[in-house]
Amino acid sequence: MKAIILCAGKGTRLRPFTYTTAKHLIPVANKPVILYTIEKIKSTGITQIGMIVSRENRADFENTLGDGSKYGVEITYILQTEPKGLAHAVLMAKDFLGDEDFLMYLGDNLIMDDIRPFVEDFREKEDLSALIMLSPVNDPTRFGIAIMEGNRIIKTIEKPKEPRSNLAIIGLYLFRKDIFDGIANIKPSWRGEYEITDAIDWLIQNKGTVEGHIVYGWWKDTGKPEDLIEANHKILEDIIEDFKVEGVIEASSSIHGRVSIGEGTEVVNSAIRGPVIIGKNCTISNAYIGPYTSIGDGALIENCEIENSIVMDEVRISNLSSRIDSSLIGKKVEIYESDGKPKGFQIIAGDLSKVIVSK
Ligand code: DAU
Repeated sequence: MKAIILCAGKGTRLRPFTYTTAKHLIPVANKPVILYTIEKIKSTGITQIGMIVSRENRADFENTLGDGSKYGVEITYILQTEPKGLAHAVLMAKDFLGDEDFLMYLGDNLIMDDIRPFVEDFREKEDLSALIMLSPVNDPTRFGIAIMEGNRIIKTIEKPKEPRSNLAIIGLYLFRKDIFDGIANIKPSWRGEYEITDAIDWLIQNKGTVEGHIVYGWWKDTGKPEDLIEANHKILEDIIEDFKVEGVIEASSSIHGRVSIGEGTEVVNSAIRGPVIIGKNCTISNAYIGPYTSIGDGALIENCEIENSIVMDEVRISNLSSRIDSSLIGKKVEIYESDGKPKGFQIIAGDLSKVIVSK
């Protein structure tokens, strides 16, 4: 069995971050979102992975993941020149997949459940044409949904206006080669995309059985900044191992809870309350770092307070009179208060940035 991860697509809701990086490479608990997906796939024994990338983000993926060997997998990059829909992305991978059964993973979805039982189920039930992971949601209009009879899916609909089910398709699918017959028989939807939900529906109506595998654990489509902050919170809460202090903590500092501090990082006269993860070569001075905060490498955090946030590499934050909370701060961003006159804000923010100051 092979796997494909879909990462082409525009990431418009995560601008300005996606002007300079793919949304799948944004760090959560100091690790790019895509690595959680690769680890999940590897846990099922699948090691051959096709990454569907766009012209804009291909180099970024290649530079970060290389051929996959450092993660124990073998990555093949597959170009989708335009994001014409999930079914179109699968079609781009036809040569890579050949006649093999395959796992399809939407690269921006984080799923906490163990996916091995899902894959094993499909390996055992050879008569199934597809097995789709589903989860109950409150807002089914935002998702592809499945209507079930027992374990069988009898209909799939993409983003229904009036949903007849609350079971959402959450970005993990298992297919055999006959999905390509479905893809060959669909037309673009009202939003102009070749929808995989339509190809699945074609399978249901014209070929074998499609089943749903319902999970109840935490999962997230990390399409918006608040989703990434929530994912960071969840992952920091759940990691129980891997917390180690390799940096230097001066005696005047206090550390509580699960805190990870990377090599070359210095913590001076500061309070850190975990779960917190701080990368390498940072300086944390006269600061409070509160729970659910991830700080990348090479950051300078001084005379300020921050919590529940993602702070990326080489950020400099200093001399703030209010605490930073629930924020997503991109690489090399600088935030500081000065004594200059006149008093007020000076903001140098790129397109689609957000600056929120509470009164
Ligand atoms: O989050 C789950 C939902 O994901 C499902 O419930 C829907 O049925 C499914 O269509 C999908 O909906 P989204 O509108 O959230 O899909 P999005 O455009 O965010 O794309 C999901 C991933 O696939 C993302 O990593 C980008 C990639 N992609 C997307 C398109 C449209 C491609 O690789 N190629 C594409 O052409």
